[in-house]
Amino acid sequence: MFHIKCLNPISEFGMKELTEKYRQVEDLGEAQAVLVRSASMHEITVSEKLLAVARAGAGVNNIPLEEFAKKGIVVFNTPGANANGVKELVVAGLMLASRDLVGGMRWISQNRDDENINKTMEKAKKAFAGKEAKGKKLGVIGLGAIGVLVANAGQALGMEVYGCDPFLSVEHALELSRNVSLVDSNEDIFRQCDYISVHVPLLEDTKGMINKDTMEIMKDGVIILNFARDLLVNDEDMEQALSSGKVAKYVTDFPNSKTANMDGVIAFPHLGASTEESEDNCAKMAVKEIMDYLEYGIIKNS
Ligand code: MLT
Repeated sequence: MFHIKCLNPISEFGMKELTEKYRQVEDLGEAQAVLVRSASMHEITVSEKLLAVARAGAGVNNIPLEEFAKKGIVVFNTPGANANGVKELVVAGLMLASRDLVGGMRWISQNRDDENINKTMEKAKKAFAGKEAKGKKLGVIGLGAIGVLVANAGQALGMEVYGCDPFLSVEHALELSRNVSLVDSNEDIFRQCDYISVHVPLLEDTKGMINKDTMEIMKDGVIILNFARDLLVNDEDMEQALSSGKVAKYVTDFPNSKTANMDGVIAFPHLGASTEESEDNCAKMAVKEIMDYLEYGIIKNS
């Protein structure tokens, strides 16, 4: 019987499948396979028994890929399994950046006992007036599983959608080009879009891609959404851009001490994939990958 170590809790369904077939162990050194969500494996020493790691999520920056490859440890992730959950939060973030719903809700909770609330509400309507997304330009950087869903959602909102992804296949590009204006470089998106949403993995090339220079060429009052990875954005530069008003809103799933308390920042505690459905989908896919590999040596995604 194979031994499995779960470094983070996974959904009930995934757990059930695993415990029916394999023995769960406390000691990582005993495990042939590891299931992990966000826990970092960079500082962890693994034993020679370890054959496979499945990351229940898309990003693999919490896993030392090169080191594991040298050791022959196969690494899986679950691309697309949580894409809908992330897309829905991006849409919510885009709406929150356009309409001051939080201000409005706060106002209601402060004034709900006021018997003249109907009169004072007129002032609130002015104070919390927003803008509509319809007709605005949305730039999507990275057209993988999440980026494509975000682009489609933007189109459904009546936005003019621009997309950039150097790794698109010709077929995929042709299909997408019905709804999305595909551009050759991120610069095209930086220069012309009102909303910019990044959906790329964190790599040497993408680290800090939203920085002083790239924000400089953006429209004044641009809205930036980052539900991909924290380090894609240079926090110090973002702090400056928010202070100067260059960036009107920064919507992020990665709060940090520099910008979290600033006006214009809408931050969530990495909630993108925190839905029952996404957690279940990721767990199902990760468990299947581990089972296929341990039982049959099948590698579909590594
Ligand atoms: C992912 O990489 O899939 C997302 O960041 C969600 C997560 O890890 O919880």
